[in-house]
Amino acid sequence: MKNNEYDGENGEMREMGQQSNVASAANIQEAAAVIRERIGFEPEIGLVLGSGLGMLADLIEQPIVIPYSDIPHFPVSTVEGHAGELVAGQIKGKPVVMMKGRFHLYEGYSVYEVTLPIRAMKAIGVQKLVVTNAAGGINLSYKPGDLMLIRDHINFTFRNPLIGPNDNELGVRFPDMSEAYSARLRGIAQSTAKELGLPLQEGVYVGLLGPSYETPAEIRMMRTIGADAVGMSTVAEVIAARHAGIEVLGISCISNMAAGILDQPLSHEEVMDTTEKVKETFLRLVLTILPKLD
Ligand code: HPA
Repeated sequence: MKNNEYDGENGEMREMGQQSNVASAANIQEAAAVIRERIGFEPEIGLVLGSGLGMLADLIEQPIVIPYSDIPHFPVSTVEGHAGELVAGQIKGKPVVMMKGRFHLYEGYSVYEVTLPIRAMKAIGVQKLVVTNAAGGINLSYKPGDLMLIRDHINFTFRNPLIGPNDNELGVRFPDMSEAYSARLRGIAQSTAKELGLPLQEGVYVGLLGPSYETPAEIRMMRTIGADAVGMSTVAEVIAARHAGIEVLGISCISNMAAGILDQPLSHEEVMDTTEKVKETFLRLVLTILPKLD
């Protein structure tokens, strides 16, 4: 974990400053160069596969697999259920690149490390990004196993990957976030779900640092401020993608009800069990959406 802001000796996050901004154009280009060389084509769609949703990568025809450890400046993901490799190829006729395993702030990575792969994807030609995650249901009408299209997010990580000098080549200093999750792509997702007869919720995702789950009081607050689902990823990646002009589609798998809703404790096992159960449905939805993403 070089270049990040976690100071292991003192157990504290260092002040985010210019020198810790690892989203330097040089680092992004170095990572992109290796990926470009290895895959040898320009992927149009990037996918970030969340906890337990990595099996989508197994459906790529003639996959090119690049372990994160082979890519300069890529951190290596440490969470169970996150493999840590980039998989590229064709899926339903679309050139894609997938992150099988993502980086989380709770692992100790900086917001710049978490978003470096997104910027590298942009550098190799990605124009659309499909982000997926497992999330806790805050909306009381949701149930575990539901899929939720992300309409918008609330950034409760209080980290932003754009802090520091702005790379004008990449995007503007103050990017608009009024349509972070493309209304056009949401329309495609909703009509695809209808066509398949799959129920698809649509709601607001609130992203937190974690890794402890929320308290019931926090969940009540987040419901009050308009959140429908809660998780520990996605928001930083989406901010970086929007900054770079990438169109975003987000899908959450509601893996559990958030804290305090049911009379039972939360566990990572429950999250993994539910994602395992809905993976067929999730796959069917994403595989039908992908060819329509023009
Ligand atoms: N809270 C936060 N993150 C999560 C949850 C949750 O309930 N479920 C899956 N990821």
